[in-house]
Amino acid sequence: MMDIFALLYPWLKAAHLIFVIFWMAGLFMLPRFFVYHQESAEGSEEAALWVEREQRLIKIILNPSMIIVWILGLYLAYEIGAFKDGWFHAKLLLVFLLTGYHGWMAGYARKLATGERKFSGKTLRLMNEVPGVATAAIVILVIVKPF
Ligand code: HEM
Repeated sequence: MMDIFALLYPWLKAAHLIFVIFWMAGLFMLPRFFVYHQESAEGSEEAALWVEREQRLIKIILNPSMIIVWILGLYLAYEIGAFKDGWFHAKLLLVFLLTGYHGWMAGYARKLATGERKFSGKTLRLMNEVPGVATAAIVILVIVKPF
């Protein structure tokens, strides 16, 4: 009989990737929302709508996807014994940075909700590049496994 874990592995890897896509989609969207939010007048109805959209994106898409990606990713790593591999250490470092970025963005959404607008639209657009660069590096690490 085939090992149940060997049967499950590709399904769990597929689930990992599905939630990676949801997480990254959310991380791409949120700073965009911030830019539009900051273009609306402070205290306006439109600003209140952006607060609601940001909170919904964080609560329904971003936070659950990040948690599921972490759980499945750590399980996959345990299954293939990746904890000793160089590529996995580098990936883990990048994913920690991405998780920190996620936390920073959620914090910025809370500040925006109280009317604090610390960063310019240009800075937010620049921050928007972070998940793209991290995704490219992570995908190369897991597919090419250069070290
Ligand atoms: C949150 C922590 C994460 C952990 C612990 C983790 C761990 C893993 C592990 C162990 C694998 C299996 C590799 C293999 O079978 O050779 C994997 C697959 C993969 N991961 Fe992650 N991952 C995480 C997050 C991410 C993120 C954020 C991305 C992309 C932005 C990502 C992209 C991928 C891709 C593309 C694969 C498929 C590789 C293949 O086809 O073999 N992972 N992940």
